[in-house]
Amino acid sequence: MYVCLCQGVTDGQIRDAIYEGCCSYRDVRETLGVASQCGKCACLAKQVVRETLSEV
Ligand code: FES
Repeated sequence: MYVCLCQGVTDGQIRDAIYEGCCSYRDVRETLGVASQCGKCACLAKQVVRETLSEV
């Protein structure tokens, strides 16, 4: 599922970024560029990050 259409970032990519060492929404944003354009995806992106962090 695409989380960020502007940057073409999927929830799977967000999860992978966390498994590979990102430990906050800010890290994920800097690594993948989510929410760097229109910003509409920020809420969903944060939610995916939060859910993934609670699993690892
Ligand atoms: Fe993510 Fe626009 S959908 S910045």
